[in-house]
Amino acid sequence: MSKRIVILNGSPRMKGNTAGLVEAFKQGAEEAGHTVEVFNLQQMDIRPCLGCLGGGRDSKNPCLQKDDMAKIYPHYETADVLVLASPMYYWSITAQLKTVIDRLFAVTEKSPEYHTPMQHCVLLMAAEGDTPDNFEPVEHYYHALLRHLGWENLGEVYAGGVMQIGDITGHPSLEKAYSLGKNI
Ligand SMILES: Cc1cc2nc3c(=O)[nH]c(=O)nc-3n(C[C@H](O)[C@H](O)[C@H](O)COP(=O)(O)O)c2cc1C
Repeated sequence: MSKRIVILNGSPRMKGNTAGLVEAFKQGAEEAGHTVEVFNLQQMDIRPCLGCLGGGRDSKNPCLQKDDMAKIYPHYETADVLVLASPMYYWSITAQLKTVIDRLFAVTEKSPEYHTPMQHCVLLMAAEGDTPDNFEPVEHYYHALLRHLGWENLGEVYAGGVMQIGDITGHPSLEKAYSLGKNI
């Protein structure tokens, strides 16, 4: 069955290593017949959550702040798979991606019981460090996030040892991202 896949790319570098992982995953998923929508968050006008707790009233565009999140909300709500893609910044995801995750709370506010839409989730990450210890904080965050939201993990790809643009070329993680997309 064809799936709707939404990729949130939190890298500020459009031709960077995360973009390489995104492209490999996308190619695999499209070859398998899925529909893939990529949002390059750096190129969008998305402001941080204000913590007003006043969202959820407008069902199509539930946040009080009106910006490019309006483009993401409808895709998020109907996606079969949500892909979080980010470089590692200070042993975490980038601010660009975290900002969007925070703003998804407005969708949760649509229900009085704070119901979060179910997602099947993937993580793609590029980083300069290349040890299990380097990735541990992100793995911990990602698994905790999914556990608390009740989301299902469909796979993680960590590309270590990549710093400069182009370092991802020929990296084994590209094959992993491709086959994760192909078999999603
Ligand atoms: C502000 C900043 C913080 C970073 N922090 C880390 C880090 O904590 N651990 C790490 O392994 N790499 C770190 N890096 C390296 C990036 O994760 C690495 O260059 C990655 O390949 C960038 O992905 P991109 O090409 O998609 O931008 C950092 C880079 C920058 C610019």
